[in-house]
Amino acid sequence: MKDIVWGEILSIGVDEIDEDHRKLVTIFNILNHAVVEGAAPEYLAATLEELINCTVWHFSHEERLMLKHQYADTAEHKAEHRELIESAKELQQEILQADKPFTDEHIASLERWLTEHILTTDMRLGSYLSQVI
Ligand SMILES: [Fe+2]
Ligand SMILES: [Fe+2]
Repeated sequence: MKDIVWGEILSIGVDEIDEDHRKLVTIFNILNHAVVEGAAPEYLAATLEELINCTVWHFSHEERLMLKHQYADTAEHKAEHRELIESAKELQQEILQADKPFTDEHIASLERWLTEHILTTDMRLGSYLSQVI
């Protein structure tokens, strides 16, 4: 699995949100490398925990900005955040309970989990915030 390379395509045009996304991409890449290198399950679990915790924090950050700038689609965007956290926690449970190691499939689904929301829902938020900030 290739790293996610940070670039213009992922930028939503709002520096403080891009900074968070960049951090999330960095943690994802650390996890990806750890899987490829066959790191210990505890290390993989700790890295996934870090990614999820940072994401929870990041979502709160976005949600505060949406409220501050009276973003019309706040409720929908928040609902998507909740679903993303739930699906990440399900994946986490699956990995912790199963004897099987972290698979490429898990990493591929985490990659989609991380980038699809940025490329669609966050991008719309970015266009709005860029106009009002
Ligand atoms: Fe985001
Ligand atoms: Fe978001």
